[in-house]
Amino acid sequence: MKKHKVLDLFSGCGGMSLGFEQAGFEIKLGIDNWNESLATFKNNHYHSDILCADLANLKPTELEKEYGEIGVIIGGPPCQGFSISGKRNPDDPRNKLYQSFVSFVDYFKPNAFVMENVPNLVAMNGGNVKTQIIKEFESIGYKVTYKIMMASEYGVPQNRKRVVFVGLKSGAEFKFPDGGYVNQKITASEAISDLPDEELQDGTSYILEPQSEYQRWIRKGSSSIFNHQITMHTDQTKSIIDLVPDGGNYKSLPKELQNTRRVNIAWTRLNSKKPSFTIDTGHNHHFHYKYNRVPTPRESARIQSFPDTFIFHGKKNDQLKQIGNAVPPLLGKVIAEELLKYLGASDV
Ligand SMILES: C[S@@+](CC[C@H](N)C(=O)[O-])C[C@H]1O[C@@H](n2cnc3c(N)ncnc32)[C@H](O)[C@@H]1O
Repeated sequence: MKKHKVLDLFSGCGGMSLGFEQAGFEIKLGIDNWNESLATFKNNHYHSDILCADLANLKPTELEKEYGEIGVIIGGPPCQGFSISGKRNPDDPRNKLYQSFVSFVDYFKPNAFVMENVPNLVAMNGGNVKTQIIKEFESIGYKVTYKIMMASEYGVPQNRKRVVFVGLKSGAEFKFPDGGYVNQKITASEAISDLPDEELQDGTSYILEPQSEYQRWIRKGSSSIFNHQITMHTDQTKSIIDLVPDGGNYKSLPKELQNTRRVNIAWTRLNSKKPSFTIDTGHNHHFHYKYNRVPTPRESARIQSFPDTFIFHGKKNDQLKQIGNAVPPLLGKVIAEELLKYLGASDV
């Protein structure tokens, strides 16, 4: 049976693409302007093409003819241009990236598109930004629905919220799967407790047996560990974080140490018994629930629901950025599986 063909704009390393692939879609092409993320994308989506290009300037007409038959466009364009006026000003250069997503949808007229973004987009300018986005896609022929999705409610061991817009060309109204998709939220320790404190060379065999169902699932097909590089903190940092208990934060520190970092999320430890807070792109503020260091790229990837077979390329900081930027693949898969119910068999 033919698979629905997907174009991933602002693909990064391909977290959302992986979810779509797992649901049975075929990822034709990922476009990004960051080479390291595309190296990861290519090495984990062997059958897909990559294109390193600035989407502010790339026109859909410039893509090769073979990409003409695209069934679904996915991606997460930065939407900064909206924040000032609440209306899209086509002349505002900061709007170019969002506009590029719209123009690709307008050109390819896929059966569906899925656009994700930060959740505060919905409340921006009293909701005008969101209304404007919906109107714009409606004007090019799509019925649009949106939802702020909490990843932990869909089996991802992370309290990460993202707004997702889905547009259907058929005019049907897409209904998002309900939160509470999983009976029990997955905790940070269920996600990473089998990974050691120490750095491991890429390809080192697992040391422990899986300690949870989640670990059994995420290790499937993998016999060794990659991307488990440790961040070397100063002795001072290690001695301060040592004072913070599992799930604690700067409030556990003596008064004179509380302001040693100027961010309110600093000196925070994961809670082993809860889903992780949102994984960022490597700011070194969130520490392991047990060890006196921040999570390694592999631990962060686990928290984002990337399987252990998905290997990240580039330096450690590049890896953390790719992981922190990504849509959790499992969240992508949940959306993609639901979308399949509306798309039926692929005609392209
Ligand atoms: C939020 S990340 C995408 C994450 C991706 N959807 C995933 O699930 O892994 C946004 C991506 O947009 C890319 N990007 C930013 N500006 C761009 C531009 N002008 N042209 C192409 N890509 C751009 C960044 O390099 C980054 O990888």
